[in-house]
Amino acid sequence: MQGGKNNVIAIDGPAASGKSSVSSKISDKTGYLHVNSGLMYRAFTWSILRSGIDLNNSDSVVGHLHSINIECGQIDGNSTLTVDGLDPGIELKSSEVNANVSLISAIEEVRTLLVSKQRDYLNISNIVMEGRDIGSVVFPETPYKFYIDASAEVRAKRRMAEGGLDDLKKRDKIDASRKISPLIIPDDAFVIDTSKMNLEQVVLEVLNELKARGLVTV
Ligand code: CDP
Ligand code: CDP
Repeated sequence: MQGGKNNVIAIDGPAASGKSSVSSKISDKTGYLHVNSGLMYRAFTWSILRSGIDLNNSDSVVGHLHSINIECGQIDGNSTLTVDGLDPGIELKSSEVNANVSLISAIEEVRTLLVSKQRDYLNISNIVMEGRDIGSVVFPETPYKFYIDASAEVRAKRRMAEGGLDDLKKRDKIDASRKISPLIIPDDAFVIDTSKMNLEQVVLEVLNELKARGLVTV
């Protein structure tokens, strides 16, 4: 339980570890709203790339942040995301966004704004939120924390099977070494190495641990 009446299930982990697949199933089982915080960082990166701004000029990047409207909400039990009224859709997963999102997410002002939008979700619903710092920074008080992992080799294979270019090693390195809110394993997180597990097995482990931690809705 957080400050209000709603609960948060936090699912963190490196790229292609299975966060989205697991979060989606846990959302189905619990009725909690699934929120993918990575899509927010991707949406801002997409907007920057479209604007033609020099990505290495953090003043321009921060200026752009304050000139656009990223709106996060929910419709019919699904979380929604628009940038100046536009839904970037599949473009959020483009090779270009993959290649630049970690650089943009390391900027403090970007994180401050997006973390506040992530926290706003708790006012409207119980949530299962996936990301890199959900259990460590965004909702550190939640007792329902998971760190979903898999070997670098398995994760690379999983992402390759989905198609598109994604340098996971580079992204993970930047995400885990940045100064602000790096990817870490919170002390009180339940860690699952999914390298040799299928999705159903992972979901079952998460549900069992949620029960063990006293979540009554599962
Ligand atoms: O799905 P995948 O694990 O490949 O990536 P994602 O969750 O969509 O996140 C894309 C990028 O956003 C990550 O590589 C991080 O740089 C950033 N991110 C972050 O910094 N903090 C979060 N809570 C979520 C994502
Ligand atoms: O959200 P994240 O980037 O952590 O991973 P994902 O998008 O949920 O999963 C990446 C790919 O791995 C998807 O194609 C999943 O179907 C697959 N996957 C898997 O093969 N085995 C698992 N235990 C979890 C995911």
